[in-house]
Formats: sequence, structure tokens, C-alpha cells
Amino acid sequence: MLDRIEQIARNLEPRLIEIRRHLHAHPELSGEEYQTAAYVAGVLSSCGLHVRESVGKTGVVGELNGRDGSGYLGIRTDMDALPIQERTNLEYASRCEGVMHACGHDVHTTVGLGTAMVLAQLGEDLPGAVRFLFQPAEEIAQGARWMVEDGAMEGVDALLGLHVFPTIPGGSVGIRYGALTAAADDLEIIITGESGHGARPHEAIDAIWIASQVIVTLQQAISRTQNPLRPVVLTIGQISGGRAPNVIADQVKLVGTVRSLHPETHAALPTWIEDIVANVCRTYGAGYEVNYRRVVPSVQNDTRLTQILESAAREAWGGDRVQILTEPSLGAEDFSVYLDRTPGVMFRLGVAHPSQKNYPLHHPKFEVDESSILTGVVILAYTAYKYWTAGYDTP
Ligand code: NI
Repeated sequence: MLDRIEQIARNLEPRLIEIRRHLHAHPELSGEEYQTAAYVAGVLSSCGLHVRESVGKTGVVGELNGRDGSGYLGIRTDMDALPIQERTNLEYASRCEGVMHACGHDVHTTVGLGTAMVLAQLGEDLPGAVRFLFQPAEEIAQGARWMVEDGAMEGVDALLGLHVFPTIPGGSVGIRYGALTAAADDLEIIITGESGHGARPHEAIDAIWIASQVIVTLQQAISRTQNPLRPVVLTIGQISGGRAPNVIADQVKLVGTVRSLHPETHAALPTWIEDIVANVCRTYGAGYEVNYRRVVPSVQNDTRLTQILESAAREAWGGDRVQILTEPSLGAEDFSVYLDRTPGVMFRLGVAHPSQKNYPLHHPKFEVDESSILTGVVILAYTAYKYWTAGYDTP
């Protein structure tokens, strides 16, 4: 079966590269993937999939029925681009001013389509049913929730996903057991003091100075009170307050992001942060407000599915093109939202060019090695086949 999948995928490769270039030239921002969704739906329909549009706003779902009548294996790819002005010299560079596929979601969409085309061509030999989720708005961490709320995961027993990675060579993949990405939460702290003359601090409550104490205390408390083997990163990225050089500020707003990997740590963070803010503010007589918003949980790869994925990748491309990743990333990915109720695994698809400078994700000169498309399609299609034939037991 592997040979057959690879042969079909190789025959499709020129068409897939065309598709990817078309998507790359026509990027759309999160929640505005109208043309992309219509294009995806068109390709899926032409391959004989049962297609539903406007699932999760601008999302698309395509289904293939297998021989047996059990639940679906889900394959999720994201479709949105970023508000970045492209600065590559590619002939198929973005034609949309200020919008660019700088996170490789054009490749993800193409790999999803390619996998659908390959599995559709297996016809009666496809052992089980597969549902493709083409998700909008990953970059704003909303699309997965929209899709789930619209029922896209109903009947899905396991989920596969991928993300391109510019530090892994094109043709190779990175596979991680356990935590792949971090939980990401938004944090807003408002500190309220009392205004006064800059020369008479004892008559005022200086919200700027207290805010600086809050920041320092939080950073020190991470190193002294959090388990160092369970990382927490807290970044205050924005701070605002104050009116004039000689007026003591009565209010300061701090806005930041909080990343963590361990579910228990993640659960405890809001209370932990609020206690620290409360104690510092109480000491100096300031008022406070802490607004903590959970955005996405950590992607925790399911062990059994990861094993199936790893063996499929090794069989398909040989062991030296499969890297087992020893470290997770503190980046975030809303793939985790689907995993609330369904086990899943996401892998990293290498896209680094062997012979040119590789820019990071979200960079205006980000480019990919297009050979990665074939690599990704074969791995996903063969993993899907093995999922059905290796007998995955849902927990
Ligand atoms: Ni991305």
C-alpha cells in the first residue's frame, strides 16, 4: 500500500505545487478566507469528497467514506495568512498588499488537499472514513473553536495535524511524544494608585513604581516558586500609564502573555498570579484588577497515534529523515482545542532549503522547500491507512 500511495502522490506533485503557488499568491487574513475556502471546496468536490462549506465561519469539511462504517479519522489543516508585506522575490509572491502566507498555511492546505486526493484514489481500498478539516483563523486562535462549535469534530475518533518548520530540512519531519506546544493565555493587570505632585511621593501612591515591583516580583517568583522542570514564561509586552513627568501616575495597565507546558501548572497560574499582584499592591496601598484569559491549551500528542505516525514516516522516508524532537516549543497552536475531547498528534514538516538562508516563520522573507509537500502528503495518507489497519483503540 505504501508504494501505491507514494506513486499516486508523485503523480500529483506537479499539480500540488501549482495549488500551493496559487494559494501563496492569494493569501487571506484570519476569518476572511472566502476565496481560499471556495477553492478548497472546489478541489475536494472534484475529487469526489462529500463537502460542507461555512463550517466554523469560513472553514470547509470534506469527507471520504471507508469500507467499514465506524467513526472518522480527522485530518486538520489551517488556511489563514498574516498581516505581513511579503518581501520575497518569488514569481508567485503575494498579490495582496500587506497579506502573506508567512506561516506556511498555504503548504498545510495543499498537503491536506493532496492527502484527500491520494486517499480518494484508493477508492474501495480505503479501510475507514476520513474527515478533512480545513480550518480558518488559526493565527488569532479562534478557528478551531469555531469548527468545534459547528460540530466539525462530531464522530471524529482521532485527529492528525501538521505545521511547517524552517529549522528542519525539506524532506524531513520532526515528531514529538507528549507536549508539542505550550498553553498560551492572555494577562491584563491594572494597578490603581493615587495621583500627586512628583516632588511629594509620600502624599501619593505611585502606580508606576508599584507596577515595576509587580513585574519584578512575578519574574523572580517564577524562578523561586515554580517547578523549574515545568516551564512558565510570562512576558509583559505592553505597559501604559502616567500623564506628565512631574505627576505621579494613578493608574498603570500591564498586558502580556503567559506560556506553560504542564496541565497542572496551567490550571494553577491564574490564582498564583493574582496572589502575587494582590500582595505587592496591598503592601503599598494600591488597588488592582487581574484579568486572566485562557486562549489555547498545550498540544499534548497521544502516544499511540504518535507511534503510528512515526512508523509510517520511517517506512515511507527512511529513519534518517525522521527526527524525534526532544524539546517542545513554547509557541501556541489551536490544534490543542480539538484535543479536549479527541486524541491527536501533530508533527513538524521540515521546509528548510538545503542551499539558501532560511528565514523564520512570520518573517516577510519566509520561504519553503516545496519538496516538503510530497513528504507531508505521503506521511499523512500512509498514517491514515495504518491508523485503520494497525487497530488504534480509542481510550
Ligand atoms: Ni502557523
